[in-house]
Formats: sequence, structure tokens, C-alpha cells
Amino acid sequence: MAAARRASAPLLLLFSLLLFSSAEGAGAGTPGGGDGRATHLHFYFHELFSGGPNGTTAEVSPARSGNQNGSFFGLVSVVDDMLWEGAGPASRLLGRAQGLTVGASLTDGAILTVLNFVFTDGPYNGSTLAVLGRALLGAVMERPIVGGTGAFRMARGYTLSKMVDSSDPENLLILEYDAYVWH
Ligand SMILES: *[C@@H]1O[C@H](CO)[C@@H](O)[C@H](O)[C@H]1NC(C)=O
Ligand SMILES: *[C@@H]1O[C@H](CO)[C@@H](O)[C@H](O)[C@H]1NC(C)=O
Ligand SMILES: *[C@@H]1O[C@H](CO)[C@@H](O)[C@H](O)[C@H]1NC(C)=O
Repeated sequence: MAAARRASAPLLLLFSLLLFSSAEGAGAGTPGGGDGRATHLHFYFHELFSGGPNGTTAEVSPARSGNQNGSFFGLVSVVDDMLWEGAGPASRLLGRAQGLTVGASLTDGAILTVLNFVFTDGPYNGSTLAVLGRALLGAVMERPIVGGTGAFRMARGYTLSKMVDSSDPENLLILEYDAYVWH
């Protein structure tokens, strides 16, 4: 079922984000032993991938035909997805996930995502996180945080995300995100 949905939906990435907690780490657990802060963000990524006036994706290149094992190899899509505080439609919009989704595996459904998480509300309004990594929908996806701006300048960290139930699986992808940021 998920495979069929993936095959028919060119774009697979959605991230909703919402921030749920922030803690001063006082250096504990900071990579490199610095005195930076550790912040935990929680949010939901929403992607509307079947077009229409509210679609958040644009396909630049289709997946190559004849691929096996659910591969999206060759797919390139531009996304401007929504980061919500909650999984539901009445939630607060915290920001956007802007970037690229690329089918980069010949042998499975793995994609490369290059995303800027741009926060426009909440305590990190005006700050961004740069997230670059590999994702395979279906399992918990771990992707590196490679930088940031504003409050997240010089950020390092990682995100963990997983697909959550969608009320409209043919058009809506919702991912629950946890982001662990040292900055
Ligand atoms: C697009 O979004 C607007 C504003 O939220 C909503 O009123 C409208 O029903 C949506 N259209 C579709 C096709 O989902
Ligand atoms: C991928 O496809 C090949 C060729 O059909 C097959 O031999 C292999 O078992 C598949 N791998 C997975 C993980 O499904
Ligand atoms: C976010 O920051 C911008 C720029 O400072 C400001 O215009 C906007 O009102 C802020 N949004 C919220 C929800 O605080």
C-alpha cells in the first residue's frame, strides 16, 4: 500500500514541525565538548504532493521508468512544505521546509533531501536549520543537521522523523519530527 502510494506520488517528503521543548545543556552532551546549548524541537511536517492550489511540491524531473524495488531514481522535486506545531489542520504554522527531494537510489526508495527549515513563529522565529541527508519512508529516518542561522548559527545535530497517520494518504504526507540541535 505504501509502495503503491509512493509509486503514484512523485514527492515523498513531508515534514511538519513543531517545537516542543528547549533545554539549556550547559555543555553536557555537546559534540566537541563545547559550551553550546542543546535544544530539542518537536514539530510536524506537512506535504501536499498531488498538486492543486495548495500543493507544496513541484516536480522538476520525473523518476526514471523501469526502476525496481520502489526506486524513485531520477526524481527531482522542489518543496516548500509546512512545519506545524501539531499533526492536525487547526495547528499553528511554525515555519517551512524549503529545498529539494531527489530520488538517489537505483535499488530502493531512498531519497536525498536538502532542506532549510525556516522558522517563522515561536521562540526561533527568524532562525533556520540546514538539514541534509538520506530518507527512506517507512522507518524512523535520521538526517544530519549541518548548520543554521540566527539562534542556530553553527548548529550541529540530527533529526529523527517518522510518518504518522494521514487523513488523505493520496495527497498528504505528515511526518513527526524530533530535532536535536547543538548550537
Ligand atoms: C486550500 O487552502 C485554503 C486555505 O486554507 C482552503 O480554504 C482550501 O479549501 C484549500 N483548497 C484545497 C483544494 O485543498
Ligand atoms: C531488488 O530487485 C532485485 C531485482 O529484481 C531483487 O533481486 C532484489 O531482491 C530486490 N531487493 C529488495 C530489497 O527488494
Ligand atoms: C517573526 O519575525 C518577523 C521578523 O522579525 C516578524 O515580522 C513577525 O511578526 C514574527 N512573527 C511572529 C509570529 O512573531
